[in-house]
Amino acid sequence: MSREVRKTPGATAHLELPSYREQSPAVRERFARLRRRPVLLEVERLCKSFATAQGSVMALRDISFKTHRREFVCVIGPSGCGKSTLIRILAGLENHDSGRVLLDGKAVKGPGPDRGMVFQGYTLFPWLTVKKNVMFGLEMAGRGRLAAEEEAMQWIDLVGLNKFARCYPHQLSGGMKQRVAIARALANQPRILLMDEPFGALDAQTRARMQAYLMEIWSNIDITILFITHDLDEAVFLADRILVLKAHPGEVSELIEVPVPQPRHPEQLLAPEFLATRRHIEKLIHPPAAEPGLNGDQLNMVRMVSVNDEVGSVF
Ligand SMILES: Nc1ncnc2c1ncn2[C@@H]1O[C@H](COP(=O)(O)OP(=O)(O)O)[C@@H](O)[C@H]1O
Ligand SMILES: [Mg+2]
Repeated sequence: MSREVRKTPGATAHLELPSYREQSPAVRERFARLRRRPVLLEVERLCKSFATAQGSVMALRDISFKTHRREFVCVIGPSGCGKSTLIRILAGLENHDSGRVLLDGKAVKGPGPDRGMVFQGYTLFPWLTVKKNVMFGLEMAGRGRLAAEEEAMQWIDLVGLNKFARCYPHQLSGGMKQRVAIARALANQPRILLMDEPFGALDAQTRARMQAYLMEIWSNIDITILFITHDLDEAVFLADRILVLKAHPGEVSELIEVPVPQPRHPEQLLAPEFLATRRHIEKLIHPPAAEPGLNGDQLNMVRMVSVNDEVGSVF
């Protein structure tokens, strides 16, 4: 059984963490069950390049992964590694050069109601109330007004906003707007929810509340979630598995099974398996050798010291 040992000054003299690959029997069993579920989304050797003034830029190279039904997968990677490009291709908003995207075994060609999208920017129609925003897609799909209204109210209720159904987006906080965006995406009953840094513009407290809301919604309905973030804690807190991408060109670095038991609680942010996973991903995204002048151990030391209360004042 491998153990990582880091030595730092002061109170955290021996921060010993298990390997992120270590799984408790309950977690191992959960992943075995997850793997037995049908594959919902299959991405096979996906490549995408963009033509620019400087020539062709390869944004994604040979991306392959599968997500199973009701799985929560986070995608993380440095800025510019192709996360948004990937999710736009999955949404059918962008073409790809080669490879395949299959949803329920069928090739994705263009946008469709089987995929719901939530972006970082608030994408609600500002001239429509909360209820009308959620009804919009339902009416477009051919529901009568009354049926659309009834269904919309159920989704608005699910995200806890029934008292705000008659409000306009400008009357809502950022977190509430994103809850409406989630309700609107879910109202069309997609097979998968594609989320591109949906909580990136929110303050830390609201963000934590939104993560808890999303986990609750996910555990109550049959939905698969692909969630892009650049926040390590968010990825480890939310995901069953994390797809780590590296940049230039965007390639799969690793697909990690998060060894933290479900359902998740905020106290788990300090659990050894949480910290071990977080540390491993941080190393993948910011390899120590990438920063000149310091070797890996020195750099780890700097990182640990900078979060250590005893020496914090030095910085
Ligand atoms: N429409 C575009 N035209 C040219 N280059 C693009 C376009 N969209 C994205 N790119 C490039 O593709 C790479 C990946 O971008 P993006 O998917 O937005 O990354 P991320 O979301 O991970 O920050 C970047 O180098 C970006 O400059
Ligand atoms: Mg992006």
